[in-house]
Amino acid sequence: MNKVRVVLYGVGAVGSRIAKFLLEKKGIEIVGAIDVAKDKVGKDLGEVLGIDKRLKVIVSDDVDAVLPNVKADIVVHATSSFLKDVYPQLEEVIAHGVNVVSTCEEISYPYVTNPELAKKLDELAKDHNVTVLGTGINPGFLMDTLVITLTGVCQKVNKIKVTRLMNAGTRRIPFQKKIGAGLTADEFKEKIEKKIITGHVGLEQSIAMIADALGWKLDKIEIDTVEPVIARKYVESEAIKVKPGQAAGLRQRARGIKEGKEAITLDFQAYIGAEEERDSITIEGEPNINQKISPCVHGDLGTVAIIVNSIPKVINASPGLVTMKELPIPSSALEDMRDYIKK
Ligand SMILES: NC(=O)c1ccc[n+]([C@@H]2O[C@H](COP(=O)([O-])OP(=O)(O)OC[C@H]3O[C@@H](n4cnc5c(N)ncnc54)[C@H](OP(=O)(O)O)[C@@H]3O)[C@@H](O)[C@H]2O)c1
Repeated sequence: MNKVRVVLYGVGAVGSRIAKFLLEKKGIEIVGAIDVAKDKVGKDLGEVLGIDKRLKVIVSDDVDAVLPNVKADIVVHATSSFLKDVYPQLEEVIAHGVNVVSTCEEISYPYVTNPELAKKLDELAKDHNVTVLGTGINPGFLMDTLVITLTGVCQKVNKIKVTRLMNAGTRRIPFQKKIGAGLTADEFKEKIEKKIITGHVGLEQSIAMIADALGWKLDKIEIDTVEPVIARKYVESEAIKVKPGQAAGLRQRARGIKEGKEAITLDFQAYIGAEEERDSITIEGEPNINQKISPCVHGDLGTVAIIVNSIPKVINASPGLVTMKELPIPSSALEDMRDYIKK
C-alpha cells in the first residue's frame, strides 16, 4: 500500500508542529502545503519549518493548484477557530474529494453554534464521499471526549464538573496572545469586547457534545464573560513579560443547565505562571468518579498528537461530518500509519 498522503492547510504554530511530527512517522508523507502568509508562500516547506532539509514541497496559497496534482488522502487543516471563517476553505478542499481533519474549535461540535453550516458541511462531505472531523486537545478531548468516556462506567450521572488549569507560559505564542497575556485589564476588556482576541473557543461545543452523548436535553448553555487573571507578581514566558496588575491570561466558565439545575460545569483557566496545573473531572453519579491528570496535558503536544492519531480514523470513517463521539475511541497511531488504514 502507498504511504498515506497528507496536505497541510495552515502552516502556522500548530500546522508547523504537526508537519514536524509527521516527518518523524512511518508510512505517511507530506505531499502539499497551503497557507496565505506572505512570508511562507513560494518557499520550500523545510525552510518554513526552519529545519535543515528541503522537502520539495512548495507552500502555495492556491488550493486548486495543489490538490488536483497530489492525490492526497487527507488535508490537515489548522487556520482558524470559527466555522464561518473556515467554511469556504473546507468547501474547496471537499470539492476535490479529500478528507479533512481540522483544529478549528467550532467544527469539533458545530451543531450548537452554527447548525445550518454544520448541516451544509455534512451534506457536502457526503456528496463528495469524504469525512470531516474537528478535533484537538480542547475542544476535542480533555473537556469532552474524555468526560464522555468516563461516563461509560456510570450507572447514573447527576452532575459533571471539569476543570483545566494550565500554565500558558509553556504554550505556543499565538495561544498566549489570544488569552490576553501581558495586556492591562482595560486593554483585555476592550480586545475581548471587540473580538480582537478570542479567548478560548470551545466550551459551548464541549458541553453540547457531552449532553448529546448522554442523551440530555439541556435547557440552555450559559457562557460567562471571559475574566482576565491579573498577575500579583511579575511573571514571564519566552515571549511575553507580565507586570503585576496586568493580565497573565484568563478564566472562562460555562454551564449546561438541565431541568433548571447546573448539570455540566466547565472551568477553563490558562495564564502565565499558573501553579498546580491539572485536568480534573468530577462525576457525581453511581459510582462517583474523580479523575485528575496532574500536571495537565500539554495542549500543543496533545493537539499535534490527537490530530495525527485521528488521521487513520478519519480515512476509515463513513463520509460526512463526524465528531469525536462518533469515531472509535482515541488511540495513538505509533506504528506505520498504513497499518491502521482499513480500506
Ligand atoms: N481544538 C484545539 O484543541 C486546538 C488546539 C490548538 C489550536 N487550535 C486552533 O487551530 C488554529 C491554528 O492555530 P495556530 O496557533 O497554528 O495559529 P497560527 O499560528 O495563526 O497559524 C494559522 C496559519 O494559517 C494561515 N491562514 C489563515 N487563514 C488562512 C487561509 N484562509 N488559507 C490558508 N492559510 C490561512 C495563517 O496565515 P496568517 O498568519 O497570514 O493569517 C497562519 O500561517 C487556531 O484557530 C487555534 O485556535 C485548536
